[in-house]
Amino acid sequence: ATESSTIILFGATGDLARRKLFPALFRLFKRGILGEKFAVLGVARKDLSTSAFQQLVLDSLKEFGHLSGSEQTEWDKFAGHLDYASADLTQGSTYQNIKERAEQMESKFGLQGNRIFYLSIAPGLFGPVTIHIKDGELRSAKGWNRLVIEKPFGRDFHSAQELNDTISQVFREEEIYRIDHYLGKEMVQNIEVIRFANAFFEPLWNNRYISNVQITSSETVGVEERAGYYEKSGALRDMVQNHMLQMVMMMAMEPPSRLETEAIRDEKVKVLRSLRRYKQEEVAAHVVRGQYVAGSIKGEQVVGYREEPSVSPASMTETFVSAKLFIDNFRWAGVPFYIRTGKRMPVKATEILVQFKSLPNILYFNKHGNLEPNLLSIRIYPQEGICFQLNAKKPGTDGILAPIAMDFCQNCEAGFNSPEAYERLIQDCLEGDSTFFTRWDEVSLAWKFVDPISKAWADEISELQPYPAGTWGPQQSNLMLQQDDTKWWPVH
Ligand code: BG6
Repeated sequence: ATESSTIILFGATGDLARRKLFPALFRLFKRGILGEKFAVLGVARKDLSTSAFQQLVLDSLKEFGHLSGSEQTEWDKFAGHLDYASADLTQGSTYQNIKERAEQMESKFGLQGNRIFYLSIAPGLFGPVTIHIKDGELRSAKGWNRLVIEKPFGRDFHSAQELNDTISQVFREEEIYRIDHYLGKEMVQNIEVIRFANAFFEPLWNNRYISNVQITSSETVGVEERAGYYEKSGALRDMVQNHMLQMVMMMAMEPPSRLETEAIRDEKVKVLRSLRRYKQEEVAAHVVRGQYVAGSIKGEQVVGYREEPSVSPASMTETFVSAKLFIDNFRWAGVPFYIRTGKRMPVKATEILVQFKSLPNILYFNKHGNLEPNLLSIRIYPQEGICFQLNAKKPGTDGILAPIAMDFCQNCEAGFNSPEAYERLIQDCLEGDSTFFTRWDEVSLAWKFVDPISKAWADEISELQPYPAGTWGPQQSNLMLQQDDTKWWPVH
């Protein structure tokens, strides 16, 4: 079990808490990671009794399928560790109550005073709540203190810097855990292992042998009920600034000198330092922005983005981004990293594909008279695994080539159940391991890459392209690769 701790969860009645955080905590409890010495204090505006809060947690576990009939005893035990404090987070006086409740729980369970402050609240409250944590003296004097902070971390470099300055008045960088839940995914963590533990990848992992890298994260859902947030964010801030760039970093980083948190993060940051930043006039040629219009997904008709509830009928918010990135260092000079992400695409999938350079086309050909390139796919979702496409002789023919696939599917094995991203990240935080959280310099460099793009868009320097729901984005996204003599390879 991890060290004893009190988790003060701000935003405990919110969507993220219900969908992801309670299930993650319950699973950590069932696995014995939380042990018996822990407490979860939910904090939110709603007026709820302790038992009503326990009921809310129970309902969310059931609703999202995380409680089976045989787990009643475990639930009863877990529920005993949950308490609730109703609070108006903008009022300083509210924090006295939170503090007292936390202290009560600490004495009830004999905890040493380690505290996690988990902010799963409106981003506008990140700064103010942190200051109230200081002024209300919520930081524990006896044990460690850690701040977990959800995205978005700012909306551009400037606001991110302001937020960082504010929270740095209360927490040291080593105490701050900025969440990017993609870093908690099994296969994202596996990228490093695949690269640095296999003799046949690392020697080829450079611009001599790799033609391009393609990273896709597609979703079938539309904006759902999140227009209030999404209208101001768009796919660039929602997905590219964080998740997509994190995957780029994992693919492109140099091997760290040791498997230590700061050594790994140092290498990741170097990738962002080498990432080419586009000037406003270069944006249109390298970044495609799209917005879905009405279409159909798996036979179901859906409305366009501008018709969605609470979305402006003239909205210029992008629901799709694809881009061609360059990492200007010795390893990657000249190798495009194509990324694409969007809502209302044909499938929900996250996958990274490496296209290798072709061998000289002189000995063997397929039936089209050429040779298919070797492809390596790292599948992150829904399958977790890797797949390698090779050329081989079509059996029974005279030298006709056909691509064959070597496919390893990790979660296809019976009983295999990899921990969910949040489960892993909360465990890391309890253990004081911040490797898979984002450091301030990563966040700031990611914004510095993104800002000129959003600026160019705000100035309408490049067009917003419509794409029908259920397609792979605007045609421009395909043209961008065609111009480079390649294409988006299908995801699985
Ligand atoms: C979140 C975004 O960070 O990631 C959402 O805010 C998006 O818009 C989600 O749907 C995708 O995460 P996943 O794990 O389902 O790929």
